[in-house]
Amino acid sequence: MFKLLKYAKRYRFFALISPVLMIGEVIFELLIPQVMADIVETINGISVSGNKEEAVSTIIMLGVKMLGLAVCSLFCGASAAITASFAGMGFGAEIRNALIRKVQTFSFSNIDRFSTASLITRTTTDVTTVQNTFLMLIRGLFRAPIMLVVALTICIKKSAEVSSVFAVSLPIMIIALAIAGPIALKRFRAMLKMFDEFNASIQENFANIRVVKSFVRSSHEKKKFKKANDDLMNAAIYAEKIIILGEPALMLLMFLTILSILVISTKAIAEQTLAVGEFTAIFTYIMQILMSFLFTILMLAQLFMSEASAKRIHEVLKEEPDIKDPENPIESVSDGSIEFKDVSFAYAKGKDVLDGISFKIESGEMVGIMGATGSAKSSLVQLIPRLYDVDGGEVLVAGKNVKSYSLEALRESVSMVLQKNVLFSGTIAENLRWGNENATDEELKRACRIADADSFVEAFPDGYNTDLGQGGVNVSGGQKQRLCIARAILKKPKILILDDSTSAVDTATDARIREGLRKEIPDTTKIIIAQRISSVSDCDKIVLLEGGKINDIGTHDELIERNEIYRDIFNSQQKGSADFDLQGGAV
Ligand SMILES: Nc1ncnc2c1ncn2[C@@H]1O[C@H](COP(=O)(O)OP(=O)(O)OP(=O)(O)O)[C@@H](O)[C@H]1O
Ligand SMILES: [Mg+2]
Repeated sequence: MFKLLKYAKRYRFFALISPVLMIGEVIFELLIPQVMADIVETINGISVSGNKEEAVSTIIMLGVKMLGLAVCSLFCGASAAITASFAGMGFGAEIRNALIRKVQTFSFSNIDRFSTASLITRTTTDVTTVQNTFLMLIRGLFRAPIMLVVALTICIKKSAEVSSVFAVSLPIMIIALAIAGPIALKRFRAMLKMFDEFNASIQENFANIRVVKSFVRSSHEKKKFKKANDDLMNAAIYAEKIIILGEPALMLLMFLTILSILVISTKAIAEQTLAVGEFTAIFTYIMQILMSFLFTILMLAQLFMSEASAKRIHEVLKEEPDIKDPENPIESVSDGSIEFKDVSFAYAKGKDVLDGISFKIESGEMVGIMGATGSAKSSLVQLIPRLYDVDGGEVLVAGKNVKSYSLEALRESVSMVLQKNVLFSGTIAENLRWGNENATDEELKRACRIADADSFVEAFPDGYNTDLGQGGVNVSGGQKQRLCIARAILKKPKILILDDSTSAVDTATDARIREGLRKEIPDTTKIIIAQRISSVSDCDKIVLLEGGKINDIGTHDELIERNEIYRDIFNSQQKGSADFDLQGGAV
């Protein structure tokens, strides 16, 4: 928690002024019982002196004094609460900002490590918990302990006999809390983990609601959600139980304390060692002592509980991005040539996904990558824009190791259409401009022409201003793929990577897109990953992957000639998808 305090820096004025105002409130509040005691004593005095008039004017004076003190206390209290809110809310907002900024620097493997759901819980639930604690601390950190100490001192001064009860009851309460606290903390940590799982369940379900519905998996998903929800509820009950049981126990102790004090005070009043007026003041102070004690405990409990959240936030903030700019990075990529030199790569240690990969691509070439699903095609190309870093060997772009470029320069030059690509809510034009904010309308149209997207975009009544809906739901799968390609082209990259990006378009369109790429951006290196041989057959060379290793490299004709696997795939695709593929393939 204390490590996070630096995020309160901008709001330190509010965070510091608030406790000062609080202290003012406490002082005024503590003076009131004394005035009250004076009033009671004055009333008591009437029967002795019989001077009613003087007593009434004294009481009115004292009443005005009490009102004044109450107004001052109210003013300080209200301003303290307002300034505390400013500080607390600002603190929360700063942490959320820092978290979002940090996550933006994460590489794919950093994100793999935390999971998206957990990052969401940490940015929302955890930050709210820490923010509330901070707010409570500003409000109570000085107020409750000062109130406790001052009220206790006054009480002891007024009657040591009555105050002696605290010597027994306060230590008992503290010991009970010291035992219950750590148990509660452990249970709250477990509950937060359940929260992660719960969020993961909701996130997956809502994000993929269409898949869930089309597979009629609603009832399965409901069951899965119910389990996550029940688990969370049980963990929460288990954690709360200790508080639910602790609260009445604490109350009991407090009432026993009050009862003992009443018994002792009654005896003292009867023996005339304590005046009635003094007793009213002492009793008010005692209530203040108990309330501040209770508040201090609540504050400590909240501090303990938010420790788990603070730790989870801190974990994200201190995570070092795996992939960073080098010192003195190269700021521009001179051409689109690529070389893999004995590259190996693993997502998890010891399980190599790619092994001994070496090949070269000249600038401006069009290269196909083929292989069965899971043969590590996507893994291979992700190493070029450094979405992941190699474990062995090196990847060179324009003759220099990719690690020597600034990430921005490298990723500006390497445009990749990911296999699982998405569009965002907004218009088509807005989505395309993700590739290049300053692109002119003419450039948008050109990119769409190359990606064979211009005709269907222009057929929409609103053309480029058509709203895509969340996640781009308003276009078909093939249309979405073509928009993603256009978006990547708009970046005017040196290297363009299409990872299975034409799987949802028919072969004729597929061929038109390749034709467009070849003609319109001849200097850009183009890497095309595909499942269909027709998508790569006209490439300058084709890399055939098998189980994370290179099986063969050559042109379509060479591979047909010498590579049995390639020939088998070709033959099966010729037969399997005869009518459509052959038609398209002929274009
Ligand atoms: N983020 C990841 N974390 C861990 N393992 C992964 C990850 N992504 C892929 N893998 C594993 O790496 C291997 C290669 O996957 P990759 O996605 O590169 O294959 P692919 O050839 O692109 O397959 P496809 O044709 O289905 O797209 C697979 O065994 C897969 O399980
Ligand atoms: Mg893939």
